[in-house]
Amino acid sequence: HFDQHDSFWLFGYGSLIWKADFPFLERKPAWIHGWCRRFWQGSHDHRGTPDAPGRVVTLTRDPDARCDGMAYRIRPEVLTQLDMREKNGYLRELVPVHFDAQQAVEGLIYLATEDNAAFLGEAPLAAMATQIDLARGPSGSNRDYLLNLEQALRELGVVDHHVSALAAFLPG
Ligand code: BEZ
Repeated sequence: HFDQHDSFWLFGYGSLIWKADFPFLERKPAWIHGWCRRFWQGSHDHRGTPDAPGRVVTLTRDPDARCDGMAYRIRPEVLTQLDMREKNGYLRELVPVHFDAQQAVEGLIYLATEDNAAFLGEAPLAAMATQIDLARGPSGSNRDYLLNLEQALRELGVVDHHVSALAAFLPG
């Protein structure tokens, strides 16, 4: 038998949009309100090193914003696996996840706030782009992370000005 605890929704707004290396039951484009995607989280273990940390996305609160991404319906056991992978001290939060104007479900997000030891915060676009261009870690280059995110959003038909502006600043 199935009840409501046999699966739940996880909302991905970063690498989870294009890289789902975990089992899921269903996957749907979705969005959340009141949050904004920003390259403000440092990465010294995935897309950079302690000496040259990269930048990856996290969410910041913005009452007027909408953040588009991909929602995955997963079994609770899968979370254990994800928590291991995202060991960089991410917080979990439950938020309404929208599939269309009529339908919303409760979903889980992972995010890093300024309380996270690796949090970097805002910097001028050109400085962030240079940092991203140079950083590389065990998961690959930070540049590819940004370009993969840009492409995944384009395929979803999503315009994210922060992501496109950063990509446009990448040298070469
Ligand atoms: C995401 O894509 O939602 C995500 C990926 C890694 C860490 C936190 C969030």
